Amino acid sequence: MRKKIVAGNWKMNTTPVEGVELAKGIVAGMRNVDKAVNFIIAPPFTHLSEVVKVTRGTGIAVSAQNCAAEAKGAYTGEVSAAMIASLGVEYVILGHSERRQYYGETSETLNKKMVQVFANNLQPIYCIGEMLEEREAGKHFDVVKQQLEEVVFNLEPAQFEKTVIAYEPVWAIGTGKTATADQAQEMHAFIRETLKSKFGELAEQTVILYGGSAKPDNAKELFSKADVDGGLIGGAALKAADFIAIGQSY
Ligand code: 13P
Repeated sequence: MRKKIVAGNWKMNTTPVEGVELAKGIVAGMRNVDKAVNFIIAPPFTHLSEVVKVTRGTGIAVSAQNCAAEAKGAYTGEVSAAMIASLGVEYVILGHSERRQYYGETSETLNKKMVQVFANNLQPIYCIGEMLEEREAGKHFDVVKQQLEEVVFNLEPAQFEKTVIAYEPVWAIGTGKTATADQAQEMHAFIRETLKSKFGELAEQTVILYGGSAKPDNAKELFSKADVDGGLIGGAALKAADFIAIGQSY
């Protein structure tokens, strides 16, 4: 049985005070969700310390949305994996399409970030997914395969075991246009097969999340698919009731 995960990526939303309120709302709502569902929330850096305090002992894990590619030093504006880990954060989202698109993140940078994440005993949530033009050109499988080969294939098996994959088709993010459950399943199965070609049966345990306009009203169908092990939720993670309702969709 694979782990079930519902993760919330808050992106650049909420003030620290609002973020703590949101976290408290999720803690309160969790009572009504099956214990088998693991929640992760990824607030902005500025909220991490307080959100870790609010969620401590509740079973909710906290994630950062990014980390620096270097360990420390003269990198103005960057936040290191060591800083993040020292707060009690457990996960880091890496390679989100917004970072690839707007901040020029490449596989080269992401390989360095992976090194930092594992050096600090954090776990990556590695995001992959094709753009609309790539899907329309029938290249979506190739794009996703390349994103896995160039980064995940460089991991040691013990690191791979700690890695969560999030398939987020770029055309579905924030657009209200979710992938159909069948499109998600088709890609998730392909991702698992690709991972198996490198890591063998370990890939049976890999948690592969779907992200892109996942909401309370479509989560059940998405989660019903064999290789969809949960969701990475953007917009709908900003309302405790919606996020909890997604957790109840298993
Ligand atoms: P939305 O759920 O807002 O489409 O965002 C998905 C996402 O990018 C999560 O990382």
